[in-house]
Amino acid sequence: MRRVSLTDVFNDPIAQKYLKRSGLAHAISTSFHAFELSISHEVNPDLATKAALLHDIGHYEWYTDGTWDFQRYRENDIHAIKGAERAHKLLIKLGEKPQDAKKIAIAILLHTDSYLPDGELAVSPLQKVVKLADELDEEPFGRHHYRKIELHLASKKIADLEMKVTQAVQNRKKKSSSSTA
Ligand SMILES: [Fe+2]
Repeated sequence: MRRVSLTDVFNDPIAQKYLKRSGLAHAISTSFHAFELSISHEVNPDLATKAALLHDIGHYEWYTDGTWDFQRYRENDIHAIKGAERAHKLLIKLGEKPQDAKKIAIAILLHTDSYLPDGELAVSPLQKVVKLADELDEEPFGRHHYRKIELHLASKKIADLEMKVTQAVQNRKKKSSSSTA
């Protein structure tokens, strides 16, 4: 049994506040991409979708005169660090297993290299899936953060994804128990 569902995370008021700030539509699309990628990369879809949903919750609003100031953002952004910490706190509050909260937080920490020194990191499959999922939904000049979605439609999409994740988690369990039988 999963301890904290995607819906639990989505419905949390703190998650809602930060998801809306960085773009609900982008967070949901990234979660769907992460689900598909988690199947092809044989990564736990529960962790991948929760990490993808929360990956941008550390964003600060870099606005100047009502528009996103990309230059200021590039110079000052630490959203992955802040997001990892926020997600970890939120997941632990909701009752997530500490090992899983840590995996999700680190996947969020490493989903972007915008603040990291140049070079290649040896990332885990989960970390790779979350980064790829984000990149699949990105638009030039951060436009993906502005895409809109109605809250009721967002909730419906999360419910649909929740069913897919539940099924996929069950399939993984069956597969691992039949391979050890
Ligand atoms: Fe993103």
